[in-house]
Amino acid sequence: MTDFRYDVLIVGSGAAGLTAALKLAPHLRVALLSKSTLNQGATYLAQGGIAGVLNEQDSIDSHVEDTLVAGNGLCDEQAVRFTVSNSQSVIQWLIDQGVPFTRQETEDGEWDYHLTREGGHSQRRIIHAADETGKAVSNTLTELVRAQPNIDIFENHLAVDLVIEKRGQRRAIGAYVLDLKKSRVDLFLAKNTILATGGASKAYLYSSNPQGASGDGIAIAWRAGCRVANMEFNQFHPTILYHPLAHSFLITEAVRGEGGKLLRPDGSRFMDNYDSRAELAPRDVVARAIDGEMKRLGSDFVYLDIGHKSPEFIELHFPNIKARCLELGIDITRQPIPVVPSAHYTCGGVMVDQAGRTDLPGLYAIGENSFTGLHGANRMASNSLLECLVYAQSASQDILANNLSTPEPTFEFEWDESRVTISEEDVVVSHNWEELRRVMWDYVGIVRSDKQLKRAEKRIALIRQEVTEHYGRYKISGDLLELRNLIVVSELIIQSALQRKESRGLHYTLDYPDTLDQPENTILTPIKSAQ
Ligand code: FAD
Ligand code: SIN
Repeated sequence: MTDFRYDVLIVGSGAAGLTAALKLAPHLRVALLSKSTLNQGATYLAQGGIAGVLNEQDSIDSHVEDTLVAGNGLCDEQAVRFTVSNSQSVIQWLIDQGVPFTRQETEDGEWDYHLTREGGHSQRRIIHAADETGKAVSNTLTELVRAQPNIDIFENHLAVDLVIEKRGQRRAIGAYVLDLKKSRVDLFLAKNTILATGGASKAYLYSSNPQGASGDGIAIAWRAGCRVANMEFNQFHPTILYHPLAHSFLITEAVRGEGGKLLRPDGSRFMDNYDSRAELAPRDVVARAIDGEMKRLGSDFVYLDIGHKSPEFIELHFPNIKARCLELGIDITRQPIPVVPSAHYTCGGVMVDQAGRTDLPGLYAIGENSFTGLHGANRMASNSLLECLVYAQSASQDILANNLSTPEPTFEFEWDESRVTISEEDVVVSHNWEELRRVMWDYVGIVRSDKQLKRAEKRIALIRQEVTEHYGRYKISGDLLELRNLIVVSELIIQSALQRKESRGLHYTLDYPDTLDQPENTILTPIKSAQ
């Protein structure tokens, strides 16, 4: 067992974790953990871009208003205004770090950043790097993090649970971390810990997310006694490529922003029948419309057509999508793209304040694993990378402001493995991973009912029983820990969905199709430690 000590432990190296590390490192010693390599999170996959108020035609009020409308009555207006007001400065910070956003020549011969549009936005306000914005952000920040001497990087290190100091005030003082290469648990002690572990969409069988989106930060914070909110609002992205060889490949909403049309298999349009904003309605509306059309027609997919744009435009704005589709035999300059909705984004998460502080002193949560109040019942496109940046900044500022008065952690510990053995039954893990994600997809998907939610609750209770038994007997592995976390987040999603007696935003239930007059968040409080 090795014992590491830092000022700040950051769990996660997406946009949120990388930004926080860079903001803190000039002043403090930082450990940056990733359970895989540094760029294996959702950030690297982001296509569309980052929303912000970036030109004179736009305004903070307009961006705030669009976010509130998409969020369907549940956004915290203060959090929205705080985030949007900081959009220009955090995007400028990214530009200053060297992120190569797409530029274009304006009518008066100047060069300026190209702004695209996505669902719910009344303005062009999304800055992007062609259709690989996340890769550009991730590569730029990763390079800077690697060059910063105050940051120690630990790849293939998976945070298992928090270390809690119980003497005096109960507070987080680091984490137990599984070194996946050495199969050994290490102790990381820190004055402050930041959870930046991304979302939980891998709870679903079909998802746009990377393998590691298992809700670890949410489960870790919940086990440590923090409240979580609005877990029923899992966002389904309307357009994931439908092809047997394409695993979870997103077709960015910017395709619809640039005039792409959704078509039934017979080539007819349908979005006009559902919403006056047609293809640019918020995601919950579009995903539900596609789901409804597919069920009605018995079709496995619908089409998305961008063929009205010139091949040059498509090459400039969507080179990555064009190339990937071409590899699979689809020429998007001439052919429509088959698409289906998939689980994409976790709107709920660990409850935090404007500085990213959770209920537990010493513990911050930023990025997709947090609940700031920004997204309400439905996140508006490209507001999520923005939230990562803004809250990474405010959490870092708070840590820096309070660092001197924060005591050093004191802790004696032994990770007791004396009673566990190497598992000879890994099938328990692989089978239950598969079953859990199928149960969530079939019973807790785009359209829900109490009967189906209760069915899912029962099945997941059985999975929990088997996995808890396995956890107590065998040496831990990455897969087992992720499954243990997925069980927690799935239960939180189901519990929250059962509590909401209405349909709102991303939560649509056949039992309560109406929207109540008084919007309320679903806040869950851990009563006793959940496994
Ligand atoms: P992530 O980028 O997901 O990073 C999570 C990190 O945590 C990883 O480093 C992972 O290894 C680490 N980690 C997780 N658990 C542990 C653990 N237990 N121990 C150690 N490390 C751990 N949003 C936008 O605003 N604009 C877009 O254009 C956009 N496009 C998207 C496209 C796709 C395909 C997807 C999937 C999402 C997209 N989103 C977009 C959403 C956005 O990308 C994510 O919400 C955002 O990147 C999350 O960043 P993050 O820093 O919170 O987490
Ligand atoms: C996309 O490019 O469609 C994804 C944008 C987002 O999830 O915010």
